[in-house]
Amino acid sequence: MIKILAKFFIKDYKEIDRPDIQAKYISLSGYLGLFLNICLVISKLVIGFLSSSIAIISDGFNNLSDSVTSIIAILGMKASSKPADDEHPQGHGRLEYISSLIVSVLVVFVGLELVKASIENIVNSKEFTFSIIQAGVLIISILVKFYMYIYNTGLAKRINSSLNKALALDSLNDVMATSIIFVMSIISKYTGKNLDGYAGLVISILVIKTGYELVKETVSILLGEKPSDEEIEKIENEIRNEKFISSYHDLKVHNYGRGKTLATVHVEVPVEASVIEVHSVIDKVERDVLRKTGIELLIHTDPSYSLREKKEKEGKMQTEILEIWDLEKDRPKLEKAAEIIKNGGLVAIPTETVYGLSANGLDEKAVEKIFIAKGRPQDNPLILHIGDISDLDRLVKEIPEPAREIMDKLWPGPLTLIFKKSDLVPDKVTAGGDTVAIRLPNSEIARELIRLAGVPLAAPSANISGRPSPTNAADVYFDLNSRIDIILDGGATEIGIESTVLDLTVEDGMILRPGFYDIDIISEFLPRVTNDKSLIENGKIPKSPGQKYKHYAPKAEVYIFDEGLSSKLEAMKNMAEEYEEKNKKVGLLVFEENIDYLKPLLVKSLGPKKDLRTMARLIFSQLREMDRLGVDIILVEGVEEKSLGFAIMNRLRKSAAGKIIKN
Ligand code: TXA
Ligand code: MG
Repeated sequence: MIKILAKFFIKDYKEIDRPDIQAKYISLSGYLGLFLNICLVISKLVIGFLSSSIAIISDGFNNLSDSVTSIIAILGMKASSKPADDEHPQGHGRLEYISSLIVSVLVVFVGLELVKASIENIVNSKEFTFSIIQAGVLIISILVKFYMYIYNTGLAKRINSSLNKALALDSLNDVMATSIIFVMSIISKYTGKNLDGYAGLVISILVIKTGYELVKETVSILLGEKPSDEEIEKIENEIRNEKFISSYHDLKVHNYGRGKTLATVHVEVPVEASVIEVHSVIDKVERDVLRKTGIELLIHTDPSYSLREKKEKEGKMQTEILEIWDLEKDRPKLEKAAEIIKNGGLVAIPTETVYGLSANGLDEKAVEKIFIAKGRPQDNPLILHIGDISDLDRLVKEIPEPAREIMDKLWPGPLTLIFKKSDLVPDKVTAGGDTVAIRLPNSEIARELIRLAGVPLAAPSANISGRPSPTNAADVYFDLNSRIDIILDGGATEIGIESTVLDLTVEDGMILRPGFYDIDIISEFLPRVTNDKSLIENGKIPKSPGQKYKHYAPKAEVYIFDEGLSSKLEAMKNMAEEYEEKNKKVGLLVFEENIDYLKPLLVKSLGPKKDLRTMARLIFSQLREMDRLGVDIILVEGVEEKSLGFAIMNRLRKSAAGKIIKN
């Protein structure tokens, strides 16, 4: 109903966020209330006097006070929407509260009058009559008041109006009051006792209570309340966003009525900052707060902390990066890392595939730290990295027939083999399973560290779980800084995607995760080897736990453009332009040959089309680069799913969560 009326009477009725439109809504609800209440007053006074029922007359007067309320609401809103003038630079918004206060005082006053009348009625009780017409008027009155309760509550919530909240409460009281009269009248009729005065008394007490509560609430607003949690949160968010500001205090909010709220706050800024720098930061926060909350914030600055000292303190918690150029010259760095491993710490290491986050693989507590640092699901087992083939024996129960030959030819290298585990291997490493994954990496740095530490290293890829694997020390640092002790920086990795995982515990062998070595190479040793079903068919549950998780995902949304898609580049260009029109930042990853066609869009290279090794090496770091550039959407050119392309697409499909654009 209010909505329908609003359409007729309020211009721009849809823009309910505007204070002036809100004021119009309140006035409109005032007019509607006035009309309904006057109808009730007339009918109740007529019926009340005809039947000489003090309860119904009281109720009528109660509605009369409500009509006055509505009039005051209307006048109050008219006055409060008057613009600011010289005498009242903060505008007239507080008149809304003042009119609420007058209304509530009047309500108390009427309540007192009704108490008096009811007591008189009890003392000299008269004959009581109750007709169908009386009953009808009471029922209609209950319905009308219930309706008023509903629309006032709705409005109070939508535009946060104290006046409508008061009116809603008042309407609910009236529903109760009139219901009581109705029930009492029926009891009176059937018992012959005249309870009219008592009903009147109950109602008048209700009226006083409502009035009192309203007085309390509006007085509190007028005195000035502490900022609401909502206001604090909104302002705090803006202040926190600014790295420059270390903390704040003494936030005060001054409410001058609808659409006019001022606030002051003290913030702490670095002593080294120049006045100009401070001013520009403060100015930005003030504008952001005004734009987002409508509150006019005034900021006072306290130069209170030293940026330099703060940096130094933080520096102590940071992960150390040790560059390794030469195994001999950098031996002290490797020894330091080996000490950390022996003491149960975490060291990120380069391998030929991706960087690994390593810990002593025989120490449950150390392994546990890996899961925490990465945020890795507990049921995803880790690979044990060994420094020499001879380390294998004590970690596994048996070495099946073809394994020897495979290890001879393909180790050290990007191949992980699954064996039955020995008792030495902690359950934490295998996630409680009876098999263990083992790999002899082809990285001198990794193998030397394993030798120096004297234990196998449990090491998953050194990224936060779910993100693209890191292929250089900076990408590790970006994800894990301050969560781990050391990063050994051995430059960018050669291969760029993780090792092939081959399960030797099943007959014929099974590839659980595709990698650099494809099925053709493996089948030279295991002629009947298969790919795990989940790698080739949708909806199959993978045998390797790690394959079931969301993976390799940058922050941006990824779309793959299928290799066989006709006019693929044109489709990529169109989609990019569409998103950019919607103000999304788009990045494209394509083969070198196609870059020119897509310029001036933001486009990066995956290497020459013929050279999938380069694509494998670049893919993760380019996805991360796009994140650093702050793109929302990444469009990637797909490749044919065979040999290395099969492994690359396995990773890409996951980072795109299956979003592939096909013919
Ligand atoms: O190239 C690589 O393998 C890199 C470098 C650091 O060596 N490591 C790596 O680890 O990719 P991670 O934890 O991100 O992936 C290991 C994969 C997971 O999918 C895991 O579920 C699987 O190997 N895996 C480990 N142990 C397994 C087991 N006993 N049975 C089946 N799958 C296993
Ligand atoms: Mg991983």
